[in-house]
Amino acid sequence: MNPAPNLVLVGPMGAGKSSIGRRLAGRFGLAFVDADREIETRTGTTIPTIFECEGEAGFRARESATLAHLLLDEGQVIATGGGAVLDAGSRQRMRERAFVVYLQVSLARQLDRLARDRSRPLIAGDDREQVLQRLSEQRAPLYEEIADLRFDTDPWFPPQAAVQLARLL
Ligand code: S3P
Repeated sequence: MNPAPNLVLVGPMGAGKSSIGRRLAGRFGLAFVDADREIETRTGTTIPTIFECEGEAGFRARESATLAHLLLDEGQVIATGGGAVLDAGSRQRMRERAFVVYLQVSLARQLDRLARDRSRPLIAGDDREQVLQRLSEQRAPLYEEIADLRFDTDPWFPPQAAVQLARLL
């Protein structure tokens, strides 16, 4: 496997970062960390509550700080939140401390995979499709900017995706 100290998965909501990341870590015998769950553990509350109390800016500050802390360590597969690439400092740290895989997903697949989700504040309204489209336009260049590898998750269920992706690493 690549000699970078960590493997980081970036990409939009519904790309499969957590489910694929957990399986990849198992295959490679690495620790798995879900950055969003780590934020919830550290704050003792949920992401929707953080958005409600501190706004998106408050969440982003926690997200960057958590990621910076996690990247001090090594030997981990880290699944980031879809917006982790918004912060320039985080992008730089990911590039320095990880091999970065950009998990790609089409809008149709995203909508399908997130159909029953109620845990993501940014898509809590009725305008899910428009929001996801807009986020994709804003963030795709940022994912591209730091990606060492791109992997299209559309054709696969997570277990197959992990097998296919592991072959490329
Ligand atoms: C977000 C994605 C979520 C979570 C938060 C914000 C985003 O993570 O961090 O709801 O800005 O795209 P997932 O990408 O794991 O869904």
